[in-house]
Amino acid sequence: MSSAHRRVVLEVNLGTVRNNFQKIATAVSPCGVMAVLKANAYGLGARAVGEAVAGAGVNRFGVAELDEALDLLYLGVPVQILGSVLAEEIPEAVACGIVLPIPDRETGQRISDACVRQSRQALCHVKIDTGMGRLGFPADGDADVRFVGSLPGLVLEGVFTHFPMAYRRGSAVTEAQIESFLAMLGRLDSAGMGFRLRHAANSDAINNVGRVYREPFNMVRTGINLYGCFDTEGARAVDVRSVLTLRTRLMAVRELPAGATVGYGCTFQTPARMRVGTISAGYADGLPLALSNRGRVLIGGRVCPVVGRISMDYTTVDLSQAPDARSGDVVTCIGTDGDDQVNIDEWAAIKGTHAYDIICSIGGRGERRYRSV
Ligand SMILES: Cc1ncc(COP(=O)(O)O)c(C=O)c1O
Repeated sequence: MSSAHRRVVLEVNLGTVRNNFQKIATAVSPCGVMAVLKANAYGLGARAVGEAVAGAGVNRFGVAELDEALDLLYLGVPVQILGSVLAEEIPEAVACGIVLPIPDRETGQRISDACVRQSRQALCHVKIDTGMGRLGFPADGDADVRFVGSLPGLVLEGVFTHFPMAYRRGSAVTEAQIESFLAMLGRLDSAGMGFRLRHAANSDAINNVGRVYREPFNMVRTGINLYGCFDTEGARAVDVRSVLTLRTRLMAVRELPAGATVGYGCTFQTPARMRVGTISAGYADGLPLALSNRGRVLIGGRVCPVVGRISMDYTTVDLSQAPDARSGDVVTCIGTDGDDQVNIDEWAAIKGTHAYDIICSIGGRGERRYRSV
């Protein structure tokens, strides 16, 4: 689809992404920083975001799956898969030098087999499950970790764990995770197994758990902070700024009589004669259904409340406060217009979710437009 004809534009300010990266890197220095670019950089565009931080001193990129990793190799920055790998992903990952996670014996064995078959080595990070309950060796699984350490072809460059509750400052859960992780590292070290890179912190931990960017930890993994967002709960210690605006166009301005119903389910009825605008964006473009009769957009700097239910391609808004609005006008769904601003947190609060869900849901139909200042 030609970008000239896209109605919805997601604009990402790569200059702000770079500034955010630098603020995070300064906050955690001398720790290294992995930029987490999985899921197409949370929907914003992995290549563009990767290029923005590649020259700013990023240590590596973190992704979820092989295709995401292959797509970023051209930048010359090490690319690491975070969770686990399927058997069929391993041969190509090894051949292409992707840094691989080892969350269990079986995966370690498969990666080793591929290395032997290809006469190559693979850089790997051992994943320890200290309480996330998803993937990884248990924190008392020393024997299994030592087993993978003995397998041919594997270079165990790093060891890591992941926090489910790092947004909560002083959380006993996080403290217990850190303790069990460090205890395991100590035992493995005594058994002669050291790891060059040791990491646990995501954005939540960077903002709430200071000790995870001090020795023995020497790398953090940040995603949501790069994009200027935070989890709903917890401190916002690093001064990162929002990087995105979501805009569309006003398709029609219509004068409806009193008592007219608007949208699927007829959830809104005009209390009096009303100018209703139909904007060219709906839930397929990331506007949460929960904004129905509750959200707002900005047109010409004026607030226009959503009326009726959000539909797939269109949303209807009350134009009472925007008497000059005309078909074709720019509509700000997220971002600043005049003195007002609609931000991601506002949508997240209405939907009862977090910023991750909002930005990952923006959808692929709109044009991604990148600014560097
Ligand atoms: C293992 C791992 N580390 C780090 C991150 C980055 O998290 P955040 O975006 O909260 O910084 C993620 C993302 O979910 C992850 O899965």
